[in-house]
Amino acid sequence: TNNPKAVIVIFGATGGDLANRKLYPSIYRLYRNGKLSDNFAVIGVARRPWTNEVFRDKVKESIENFNDTNIDPDEFASHFHYNPFDIQDLEHYEDLDKLINELDDKYEAEGNRLFYFSMAPNFFGTLAANLKSEGLTTTKGWTRLVIEKPFGHDFKSAKELNKQIRETFTEDQIYRIDHYLGKEMVQNIEVIRFANALFEPLWNNQYISNIQITSSEVLGVEERGRYYDGAGALKDMMQNHMLQMLALIAMDPPIKLTPEEIRSEKVKVLRALRVMNEDEVDKYFVRGQYDKGIVNGEELPSYREGNGVDPESNTETFVAAKLMIDNFRWAGGVPFYIRTGKRMKEKSTEIVVEFKDLPMNLYYGKEHETKSNLLVIHVQPHEGITLHVNAKKGDYNASSTPITLSYDNKAGDKMNTPEAYEILLHDCMRGDSTNFTHWDEVAFSWKFIDVITNAWSKKKADFPNYNTGSNGPKEADQLLLNDGFEWWDVTPE
Ligand code: BG6
Repeated sequence: TNNPKAVIVIFGATGGDLANRKLYPSIYRLYRNGKLSDNFAVIGVARRPWTNEVFRDKVKESIENFNDTNIDPDEFASHFHYNPFDIQDLEHYEDLDKLINELDDKYEAEGNRLFYFSMAPNFFGTLAANLKSEGLTTTKGWTRLVIEKPFGHDFKSAKELNKQIRETFTEDQIYRIDHYLGKEMVQNIEVIRFANALFEPLWNNQYISNIQITSSEVLGVEERGRYYDGAGALKDMMQNHMLQMLALIAMDPPIKLTPEEIRSEKVKVLRALRVMNEDEVDKYFVRGQYDKGIVNGEELPSYREGNGVDPESNTETFVAAKLMIDNFRWAGGVPFYIRTGKRMKEKSTEIVVEFKDLPMNLYYGKEHETKSNLLVIHVQPHEGITLHVNAKKGDYNASSTPITLSYDNKAGDKMNTPEAYEILLHDCMRGDSTNFTHWDEVAFSWKFIDVITNAWSKKKADFPNYNTGSNGPKEADQLLLNDGFEWWDVTPE
């Protein structure tokens, strides 16, 4: 079923920029790329008293930049319907059910229903319960739930939230989005690792010296201060995106490529993360918060001066950490250095696998520039892979120099490469949950993160401690220097 059929109900259709920036464009691109047939309808649901026309105008606005074919935007937007809605009012559920059935008939969607929760998580429980009690989740086709992060703010709240939605939906109906899992090069980690003879034999504590995962952003928290100040980089990025990338990089090969098998390998990694005591948290976790700064002649405010942020906020906008994985493959000292932050020098996500040096180096001396072998997975904005090896320099001496072999994933096809949300929505409608996070992964990630949160909550940080446009606080560099390593700067020019 490459051409899914469904009525998609988006709760929280008017708020936030997620719907406008990601969801509607993704649905449009699926439609345009022939991945979504005409058998679909979207119902936007929210409190505001919008009409279909207002909603469709918003949808058309959101796809303006992608509108590069001869698809008529009005024709596309005609699949979108708006339904004003109060989550507490049971009569509204009846109306919504009627509308879903009507559109199901009209578009021949075969009774498939996709509920998309894109709103404040404190309503998720009520909403799920009412959908069930009013009969909206019983249908002749499939029913699925897509749920956005944050999935709780610690293990306890995540568990409570999970309990609430599980009263209505079974685990295999729940699709928890981590949009990093929809990124092409994150999905490529498994292929690179498990479809090549070259890497897997070396992928362990004998041949790898350390692994670095960086996701840096140039933007600050902008208009999301109110949410972000209660979250911070640890919960906003580390608990989900960073630990997911780590799990994919560190896991054992699954016995098959099914969601269950892959997930079970990922969970094993999360369970093997070495738990730290408070002293170790101090030593191996660095937190930072950005100060004001001048970028391209423009003066940018510090984090604490931002909208919705407590002027004395102790919330971190940067984290760097050294993590250890205690299992057969990694025990004995392969550090995983993870770093993420806002208002840094560049927007970039890169994974660097650094191999150990050979037992004997024949190419020493000043004519040689031999460097460690690196495998770099460029997640964004550049998508590709580079392999750093040493080769002979083109001169009269037998001297060696580092060279890179590289692959550019987007070469020649920038427009049509699908984007994260597009891939994930398509997966969900096809019933493939491989690239969504199972409850077990969420649970173990939170358990690991809770230890850090608790340790940090006992001590006030000395913020702000890094400049806008920098690589974060100097302690993040020291973290690697202590072990004789450095963060590799591998972003392509
Ligand atoms: C989101 C975080 O999950 O990921 C944001 O809430 C962050 O704070 C974003 O900016 C980064 O995503 P991307 O795809 O731009 O790297």
